[in-house]
Amino acid sequence: PSSPSSIDLRTWVRDIPDFPKPGILFRDLTPLMRDPEGWGEAIRLLGLLCERVQPDLIVGIESRGFIVGTALATIVGVGFVPVRKPGKLPGEVIGVDYSLEYGTDRLEIHSDALGDGSRVLIVDDLLATGGTAAACTELVLKAGGELCGFGFLAELAALEGRNRLPQEQPIESLIIYS
Ligand code: PRP
Ligand code: ADE
Repeated sequence: PSSPSSIDLRTWVRDIPDFPKPGILFRDLTPLMRDPEGWGEAIRLLGLLCERVQPDLIVGIESRGFIVGTALATIVGVGFVPVRKPGKLPGEVIGVDYSLEYGTDRLEIHSDALGDGSRVLIVDDLLATGGTAAACTELVLKAGGELCGFGFLAELAALEGRNRLPQEQPIESLIIYS
């Protein structure tokens, strides 16, 4: 974690078996988002990561990454850029196909969103297989951004998603499930 914290964020995670498909143990983070103390602590800890890696922009992945990313961008005082599911962004886009723990999809970013080598922190609520974050990495690089790290509320370590991300980058998850 970014810094020692006396608050155990796991208190606010609810496990739901067989959602959205049989065999998936869904780590529901909505109780964390609903609690001002827990949520404030989660965003504060990701804010400490930003102090270390100094992003110019936070890129958040639709949908749950928007919740984390906009809160974080606001406390840090930097801009937020959405990476969206296909057909949602109105301007010219760059796209990439990917696969995730329970399906496949495509992600898009506005081609002009990152411009001239902005330092980008990619955030999402949860790192599972890493397919989503790896696809987002590809998008950020294609769009001319410079990566400075990854931040997640939770990580499913057994799926080894972090191995699919650039190893030279800081990858921080506030809650790690082994
Ligand atoms: C979930 C989660 C991450 C992704 C992680 O999103 O929010 O984006 O899966 O899985 P991966 O590491 O195996 O790629 P989901 O696609 O369910 O979309 P949502 O945020 O719109 O609910
Ligand atoms: N996204 C991908 N896998 C997930 C899981 N097991 N729980 C919550 N969100 C997820």
